[in-house]
Amino acid sequence: MVGAWGLWPALVDANQLENARLNLCINARDAMPDGGRLTVETSNKWLDDRGARERDLPPDQYLLLDVSDTDSGMIAEIAARAFDPFFTTNPLGAGTGLGLSMAYGFARRSGSLIRI
Ligand SMILES: Nc1ncnc2c1ncn2[C@@H]1O[C@H](COP(=O)(O)OP(=O)(O)OP(=O)(O)O)[C@@H](O)[C@H]1O
Ligand SMILES: [Mg+2]
Repeated sequence: MVGAWGLWPALVDANQLENARLNLCINARDAMPDGGRLTVETSNKWLDDRGARERDLPPDQYLLLDVSDTDSGMIAEIAARAFDPFFTTNPLGAGTGLGLSMAYGFARRSGSLIRI
């Protein structure tokens, strides 16, 4: 956990945020069956005109939640589909493929975004 002091407050559904965070952490755990490092980081992020335009968001103050792992990551074909509903590379019965899709919807509804 890497937490910043003085994080700005955010208007967000706490339960949905927790669900999204949990899914990101479980995904990271699943990606590292032989172990590795999972990092959850929070920080304040000020998006100026240019940064906001690049992300298709209004310029504003945002809270960043960054979840990363030490697996090799996703190949481009998987990254391109990872947010699709029901897309999963897990074996049948081991995942619905809805985790990232729900996190995506939640981020957009909250006036923010999620990206890989
Ligand atoms: N941290 C990660 N490292 C590598 N691949 C990932 C990671 N997170 C997600 N993926 C890929 O994206 C796919 C979709 O993730 P998503 O969370 O939507 O579904 P899932 O984890 O497979 O199933 P569920 O979330 O319903 O348990 C995963 O099956 C996996 O292939
Ligand atoms: Mg998942």
